[in-house]
Amino acid sequence: MNFEFQNPTRIIFGAGNLSRLGEAAREFGTRALLVTGGGSVKRNGVFDRAVSSLKAAGITVAECEGIEPNPRITSVARGAATVRKEKCDIIIALGGGSVMDASKVISAAALYDGDPWDMINHGQDKVYVPKQALPVITVPTLAATGSETNCGAVITNEDAKVKSFIQIPLLYPKVAVVDPELTVTVPKDQTAYGVCDLITHVTEAYFNGIDTTPVQDRFAEGVILTAMQWGPKAIADGSDIEARAQVQWSAIVALNGWVQAGTNGAYPVHMMEHTVSAYHDVTHAAGLSIINPAWMRFAAKTNTGKFVQFAERVFGLPAKSADDLDCALEGIDRFEAFLRSIGCPTRFSELGIDGELFETYARDTLKIVRDENGNLPGRPPMSVEDMLGVFRSAL
Ligand code: NZQ
Ligand code: ZN
Repeated sequence: MNFEFQNPTRIIFGAGNLSRLGEAAREFGTRALLVTGGGSVKRNGVFDRAVSSLKAAGITVAECEGIEPNPRITSVARGAATVRKEKCDIIIALGGGSVMDASKVISAAALYDGDPWDMINHGQDKVYVPKQALPVITVPTLAATGSETNCGAVITNEDAKVKSFIQIPLLYPKVAVVDPELTVTVPKDQTAYGVCDLITHVTEAYFNGIDTTPVQDRFAEGVILTAMQWGPKAIADGSDIEARAQVQWSAIVALNGWVQAGTNGAYPVHMMEHTVSAYHDVTHAAGLSIINPAWMRFAAKTNTGKFVQFAERVFGLPAKSADDLDCALEGIDRFEAFLRSIGCPTRFSELGIDGELFETYARDTLKIVRDENGNLPGRPPMSVEDMLGVFRSAL
């Protein structure tokens, strides 16, 4: 292992903490752009409570509403224009991963004269790396992406049919005000998708990383087991604050960089899913839930030992040997069954997606990220044919 780790986002965690938003924001600015999604926070009263807290702290509020799931670059540009017009000096993201991701990119786009799409790695010769950004405070209303405490953002260009990312330390939020009470209105399906997303964040590092990360392996297994224990409770009873809190903390730990530290992993399942999302505008974790088990069956053939470990430690399955492929595959079957049990799809046909564009997804994925041999980074690296095999097996 050879790595650096720093996550500077201050986390204020716990039920009831929304009232502390104003106090947290006041340290960084007095004119806020409050970014929200399609209206859930207005319907459930969270928006009004956030505004009250900000106003009580002497902060004026301009709005950028209507950020869509799979947020568009056009919405980022709209938000940046409002920042300039209203002379905002702080961005507050009140919503799910889509709102938080859009807010992070708005924070840099507002200080950049060019096209914000220049910042998103979409296979262009030179990605523009912003040097300055306004401070961002995240207030997650959905437990899933971990965007609240990481420096990544995923943005879609609808016209180009590309969904891709920016990930730079500049975009770490200053503070994450994490109040599990804000997630009680998340419907069952989105709650389940959040559980699937957070688990996939740790399985990517777990299965694609180097071998010698025993501490990280245990962290990852802890996140998976916790999400599998508490996720179904949060789905069964959305008002169960303890379950909501455990799932939300799991989502944060899953992708704040800590579990990944030193693993040197890659994100092949995410990379493939983003391309599928770009074409079909599907919910991120619905795509992951289909691709991840299919990818696991592919990867288990070459990285069998790690999948045996997963089967033993997560599902308590007995292995005949360290390379018992049957045991590894049984672990994957159990994982897929868990996803189905919480209501996630595991076949493309369930989303109405046929195989017509499979090759296009594979080729487009490689336009965004590829290794020196032209393959998708991961363990093992994947050619177009490999990706096609995975997609077809999940039809
Ligand atoms: O838009 P509103 O009306 O708020 O409704 C949203 C949306 O329809 C709803 N929702 C959110 N909070 C709610 C609520 N409904 C009721 N009560 C609440 N408290 O849920 C729906 C989905 O919201 P969205 O923000 O799209 O979901 P999620 O948090 O799963 O974010 C998904 C986006 O994040 C990206 C994904 O690709 C996708 O674009 N990701 C970001 C990552 C990151 N920054 O680190 C990593 C992830 O792997 C992921 O790629
Ligand atoms: Zn994800």
